[in-house]
Amino acid sequence: MSIANKIKDYMERASWIRKMFEQGLELKSRLGAEKVFDFSLGNPNLEPPDEVRKAILRLINDERPGKHAYMPNAGLRETRQAVANSLSQDHAVKLTWEQVIMTCGAGGGLNVALKTILDPGDEVLVLSPYFVEYLFYVDNHNGIGKLIKNNEDFTLNVGAIEAGVNPRTKAIIINSPNNPSGRIYDEPSLKNLGKLFETIQKRSGQTIYLLSDEPYSKLVYDGVKIPSIFQAYPYSMVITSYSKDLSLPGERIGYVAVNPGMENWKQVVDGLTFCNRILGFVNAPALMQHIVSKLQGVQVDVSEYQRKRDNLCRGLAGAGYSFIKPEGAFYLFPKSPIPDDVLFVNTLLQENILAVPGMGFGTPGYFRLAYCVEDRVIEGAMEGFRRAVKKATT
Ligand SMILES: Cc1ncc(COP(=O)(O)O)c(C=O)c1O
Repeated sequence: MSIANKIKDYMERASWIRKMFEQGLELKSRLGAEKVFDFSLGNPNLEPPDEVRKAILRLINDERPGKHAYMPNAGLRETRQAVANSLSQDHAVKLTWEQVIMTCGAGGGLNVALKTILDPGDEVLVLSPYFVEYLFYVDNHNGIGKLIKNNEDFTLNVGAIEAGVNPRTKAIIINSPNNPSGRIYDEPSLKNLGKLFETIQKRSGQTIYLLSDEPYSKLVYDGVKIPSIFQAYPYSMVITSYSKDLSLPGERIGYVAVNPGMENWKQVVDGLTFCNRILGFVNAPALMQHIVSKLQGVQVDVSEYQRKRDNLCRGLAGAGYSFIKPEGAFYLFPKSPIPDDVLFVNTLLQENILAVPGMGFGTPGYFRLAYCVEDRVIEGAMEGFRRAVKKATT
């Protein structure tokens, strides 16, 4: 008697995440949490803005019935309208409520989108370094994930993407600001990508959907502006959540927005709505839909993350690490001082520092630090970072 071999295999392949987590727990119980410097998880350390608590209290005290009821699978109309209004402004493209489907976070949204567009054996281009769940999500819906390497500086390599397209290519997932690199893809490269896919469509009739996974789109630094994917390519969907910008990851609330310029947007929206239902999500959490509809434009204080980024970058550069300064999100992806990133992460562990090896993101030779942590973690870890690089290289 056994569970599915495939799942056993996947769990084995993903087991380093669990090992990391377990080693962290063990260290914390042995040494006390304050002695451990945990950069392993992208769990925001900032509490949600006060507006969230106030909106929840208002909602709970509102005695009108029905707020916990089933609803249309795509979500509450007023919430979809609020999101559409806010997206219309951000993207300078007019969206209506019908083009927004509320989902259980970005993870739920990605699964709903992939289920809607993939036939068995269809290929999905995934850019490395990548968010570790993408390949599992693609496989959930009988697709095949095909890895494409970004440039050395983690920018888009449109030539490599073009070389990776074949007649089975159905979609690409991009993630900007990026987990783990912090990179924001610039407007010219996104426009080039759009042009490439439009040329393919004109030449052969093949439509490649662009799924833009954007849970960090509000976490950007130094006044950088995120280019609009809707402006770059009509067959695009924005998939995002309030997990990071409102610090609500446990509440599972996000959405998929379909480009109104997509010729078959109605059919795609119907497919997304149906898949939200048959994947068993049914609809995104009702209370959270009521909350976020009132909180468009509200977000955590991004300058806090920018300050943490600057402190971490300054300290690590002083210790001799090399890295590309993140433009957004809350991850730093430095080069491992030795080629074996797993070995180096173990060296960090001896200093009570928890990090994730780059191989977990399809990019060996690097390691990831999530800096959505308290300041004391960054300050307290610096001595250990200095000792680890010395230990590894002498
Ligand atoms: C790149 C990326 N996509 C999607 C997700 C999933 O986010 P959510 O909590 O909205 O499902 C995460 C979470 O860390 C992420 O880093």
